[in-house]
Amino acid sequence: MKKVTLLVLSLCVFSCSKTDEINGYQATPLEVVIPENFPQIQYNLDNNPVTQEGFELGKLLFYEGKLSSNDAISCAFCHEQAFAFTHHGHTLSHGVNGGVGFRNAQPIQNMAYQMEFMWDGAASHLDFQPIIPITSELEMGEILSNVINKLKNDAGYQYQFGRAFENGEINSENMLKALSQFMNMMVSSNSKYDKYVRGEDNVQLSNIELDGLANFETNCASCHATDLFTDHTYRNNGLSVNPMLDDKGRYNLFENPDDLYKFRVPSLRNIEVTYPYMHDGRFSTLEAVLEFYNSGGTDNGNVDPSLLRENGTYGITLSNYEKESIIAFLNTLTDHEFLQDDRFSEF
Ligand code: HEC
Ligand code: HEC
Repeated sequence: MKKVTLLVLSLCVFSCSKTDEINGYQATPLEVVIPENFPQIQYNLDNNPVTQEGFELGKLLFYEGKLSSNDAISCAFCHEQAFAFTHHGHTLSHGVNGGVGFRNAQPIQNMAYQMEFMWDGAASHLDFQPIIPITSELEMGEILSNVINKLKNDAGYQYQFGRAFENGEINSENMLKALSQFMNMMVSSNSKYDKYVRGEDNVQLSNIELDGLANFETNCASCHATDLFTDHTYRNNGLSVNPMLDDKGRYNLFENPDDLYKFRVPSLRNIEVTYPYMHDGRFSTLEAVLEFYNSGGTDNGNVDPSLLRENGTYGITLSNYEKESIIAFLNTLTDHEFLQDDRFSEF
């Protein structure tokens, strides 16, 4: 593996902060860390530069129950920091009035590097993604105009929107921009693996972790590619179809038969803490995931051709040591700094 020296590029969007004395508007630029080992950023930060005030507003909104119909379900209810912002202990997440959704909550990290969101890519811009959970009957069950009215009646939010946006308006555009500013700051790039790759602090991988990295590159990196561990494509990895849910994945969007049971290749960062796994949370351990790949997927008619083995079954043949080493490697992707970073915590 090529070792690279530390070079953290920073994006400073304003040369100085702007202050509007009348409505309290302040634009104190915040640095978005662009890790050197990451592929190109996708979010256009020029259209929605991150400021201290916008970030703080976005954080308040992320932890705000008022975004839901019963004032109790915030984004953070399903996206808990200690578990890389997933819904801990839930195969399928549940929202207002106990309604159970039909997918496993995804982590929120490195969102600025994605062009499409959700397991099937149903959201094509980070700024619009929150509309889906807010208005979903099973998640937050609310309508946008109600959310905006609740925020308008709150003196705290009048002040926060005034500080964060030049026009100071409490409207859905500004609310969504603030949420994106918060999420764009949520960069997870300081795992043991990252420090090893960037040659920082003399961090080394153990022998089994190095073997795992090599085995991962041979068997997994064609899909879980780059240092984001996803190539952003939609694939069918041979999971049997859950008859209760019959989730057709990306097919639901365009009804293209070619998309049947395809789901976005997920990033594997912080995978140690984001269990249960897969779009419906069917596996609770990494051992179970690796045994699924090894024992072979179900031929549901559209399995990724790269998984076809010589014996005609679909899967990835792995010895016990290969499985064990890959898990040891995957555990080096846990970024404790991110999971405990106070900037993203509620209190
Ligand atoms: C009731 C649980 C629940 C709530 C509340 C919720 N989410 Fe989610 N979130 C999910 C689930 C489940 C998914 C995956 C959905 C899918 O693929 O259909 C998801 C996906 C996402 C994604 C896409 C991640 C990716 O990698 O593509 C983002 C971003 C996100 N949520 C942000 C938010 C924000 C912001 C809020 C608050 C406005 C919120 N969520 C509220 C459960 C929830
Ligand atoms: C052909 C592409 C492909 C290959 C090769 C592949 N995966 Fe996956 N992987 C996927 C897809 C697609 C999903 C999501 C499937 C779903 O939920 O429907 C996934 C899901 C996972 C998950 C669950 C992630 C989560 O957030 O729930 C883990 C863990 C995983 N893969 C590890 C591996 C490992 C380890 C290897 C190598 C042994 C591997 N994968 C090889 C495409 C692939």
